[in-house]
Amino acid sequence: MEKLPNDSVLVVDFGAQYAKLIARRVRECKVYSEIVPHNVTPQEVRRRKPKALIFSGGPSSVYQENAPVPHPELMDLGIPILGICYGHQLLARMLGGRVEATGVREYGGTDLRVVGESLLFHDLPAEQKVWMSHGDSVTEAPPGFRVTAVTAGSPVAAMENPDRRIYGVQFHPEVVHTPHGMDILKNFLYLAADCLPTWTMVSIIEKAVEEVREQVGDNRIICGLSGGVDSATAAVLVHKAVGDRLTCVFVDHGLMRKGEPEQVEDTFRRHFRMNLIHVKAQDRFLRRLKGVVDPEMKRKVIGEEFIRVFEEVARELKDVRYLVQGTLYPDIIESGTGDAAKIKSHHNVGGLPEDMDFILVEPLRDLFKDEVRAVGEELGLPEEIVWRQPFPGPGLAIRIIGEVDAEKLRILREADEIVVEEIKRAGLYRKLWQSFAILPDIKTVGVMGDERTYAYPVIVRAVTSEDAMTADWARLPYEVLERISNRIINEVDGVNRVAYDISSKPPATIEWE
Ligand code: XMP
Repeated sequence: MEKLPNDSVLVVDFGAQYAKLIARRVRECKVYSEIVPHNVTPQEVRRRKPKALIFSGGPSSVYQENAPVPHPELMDLGIPILGICYGHQLLARMLGGRVEATGVREYGGTDLRVVGESLLFHDLPAEQKVWMSHGDSVTEAPPGFRVTAVTAGSPVAAMENPDRRIYGVQFHPEVVHTPHGMDILKNFLYLAADCLPTWTMVSIIEKAVEEVREQVGDNRIICGLSGGVDSATAAVLVHKAVGDRLTCVFVDHGLMRKGEPEQVEDTFRRHFRMNLIHVKAQDRFLRRLKGVVDPEMKRKVIGEEFIRVFEEVARELKDVRYLVQGTLYPDIIESGTGDAAKIKSHHNVGGLPEDMDFILVEPLRDLFKDEVRAVGEELGLPEEIVWRQPFPGPGLAIRIIGEVDAEKLRILREADEIVVEEIKRAGLYRKLWQSFAILPDIKTVGVMGDERTYAYPVIVRAVTSEDAMTADWARLPYEVLERISNRIINEVDGVNRVAYDISSKPPATIEWE
């Protein structure tokens, strides 16, 4: 975090979701970006030597009491600035223009007209659609600024002062509903701020590899693998940096889906030829789960057992002091503390044992999830790992309602495999946040041939979501549901009924436990 190797842009945060999206878009323009709080000091900005600042949008009105404002000296550093929406209004107000609640709100796709010469709209059509979402409007640009675009409701929809290198747009160039948004951002980055598009996959990987080498020197490192994309990518990156000095530990708690342990073996031991300790702890976990029905108790039991197994392995590898964690940039932003390890370990079974004396190696801590996937792909990880849907640490145990046993695990594993296969076959896998099966703790009556059956139902759950905080049940095509249902009932012994969960989060959760 200390070094900014490429040209970099600091996104000043006036609303976390806005800032995050802008930071991602800037990186898609191949310019490294980081998010800083709205009250970042001019000294801190100078220390980081960014090529540009972007003031994000945000939910506030510049008129609200306690509305967040940046340090006024940021405008005098000679660093190019782009203000977006709320950021645009801040610039207008702080530099002597006028912002008013005109009563005209603009929301959604809006026609924009470029007026006069403009760097931001260089080589772009004079009329274009942009995405607006604002109540207040800039009605007068500050002295020294020229108005470069207007809309029906915004007399200053865009403004610029090339001498001071300060630019503002009322609309949101970062959203996909502004078709030329990326071009406008690129014009700002490349033309106004002289940034070079050097933040590429190759440079991301080189930087991470170099930092890991620098951090760990000749020491040995341990990495827990879960089968997910984050730990897999982190492991492969660290392996690239230190080779055989890395040992990966995969604790198979027996609560994985079909094929996952084999996939870990194939990928890491056979393909990448990495040191892999595969701990087969299925029986141990099942024993500990005997009689446990409470969902939180399951999590606790699995989490504790996981740590115990991990500690045992670590103790055997006596001289290992470094532990790889797949912490991502959003974990760091959201913690607000810069101490991502703590959050992760609480949320994730399979996180690090807290009282263990490891130094953390976090090669993904600067990256967004889509960048991690791209790095994973670039490093040759298989598609099944790179694009795997999220899977909870406690695994199938929290998708089996009631007590977990080997027979229920078999049923759920087979049913789940069918769900995933059919979702993939329908081309829906990447469009869904998660799609999986659940085994409830009830049996129902059915009829098969001439025989009455009394067997388990399986629940199918498929949701769309951006971040798992909210989720909507997926409107799966009937044909897909039909195939899933037919196949589960025909192919999975012990199941005679399939139901589809049509609840959203909230009030339901994604998992059933
Ligand atoms: P819920 O069920 O709360 O899940 O809507 C939100 C997201 O978190 C995942 N999840 C977990 N992940 N350990 C994890 O590592 C857990 O105990 C856990 N519980 C839920 C869930 O799969 C979904 O993506």
